[in-house]
Amino acid sequence: MKELVVVGAGGHGRELLDVVDAVNAVQPSYRLLGVLDDAMPDPDLLAACRVRHLGPVRLLAELDTEYVVGIGSPKARKTIDLAATEWGRRPATLVHPHAVVGRNVTLGPGAVICALASVTTNVRIGRHVHINVAATVAHDCRLGDYVTLAPGARLSGGITIGDQVTVGTGAVVIQGLRIGVGTVVGAGAVVVRDLPAEVVAVGVPARPRLPVQQSGAG
Ligand SMILES: CC(C)(COP(=O)(O)OP(=O)(O)OC[C@H]1O[C@@H](n2cnc3c(N)ncnc32)[C@H](O)[C@@H]1OP(=O)(O)O)[C@@H](O)C(=O)NCCC(=O)NCCS
Repeated sequence: MKELVVVGAGGHGRELLDVVDAVNAVQPSYRLLGVLDDAMPDPDLLAACRVRHLGPVRLLAELDTEYVVGIGSPKARKTIDLAATEWGRRPATLVHPHAVVGRNVTLGPGAVICALASVTTNVRIGRHVHINVAATVAHDCRLGDYVTLAPGARLSGGITIGDQVTVGTGAVVIQGLRIGVGTVVGAGAVVVRDLPAEVVAVGVPARPRLPVQQSGAG
């Protein structure tokens, strides 16, 4: 059994606790030490999850354990990953047993594939990419580092996604497109053209609305 901490005790962090439980139910793999969070997490929610708040994120420097980052923001995951790497920590890669992962799929360190997600074939997934509940990634996609696919997001075949992109809940991207680094695709959008870097795109068809820095997503 490897020791593990989840960094981030918000909603997504608590969802990852369930992914760890599901992985352990199939094959006992991780001894969960607790969660790290710079804020004080809701004690009742943590008690209900039977997990301890160990302290702030910097404690990871002293804990000889693997980690996953349970935070939806790509930027936050990157910041924590860079610090953790400097402290000599290695991320765990988690695949929920009720996710479907096909042949010839590469998952980067720290990647998390949640329940009911599907990744088909010849897919490359970068470091600390999170594929949330019921999101799907079709054949021949390339996802950079720290990408977040929100629940129910749909990537068709042959799509290239830059580092730190977020694809919102229920959004759809048609085949063969490219989405630039740091872009945010709004919930429910349908992307039918390439998107540049660092924009927020919403609607059907999706159109860039604002630079990420000028939106609430920045
Ligand atoms: C696109 C998004 C990032 C915009 O965030 P924001 O910059 O804070 O935007 P605001 O809420 O200030 O809205 C600005 C405008 O965009 C519109 N808008 C926001 N999100 C939209 C969306 N997904 N589709 C269409 N229009 C949207 C708002 O109605 C508003 O329009 P108005 O100016 O005409 O009133 C955000 O709304 C979104 O969809 N995020 C993804 C959420 C998600 O998937 N979460 C998963 C968590 S697990």
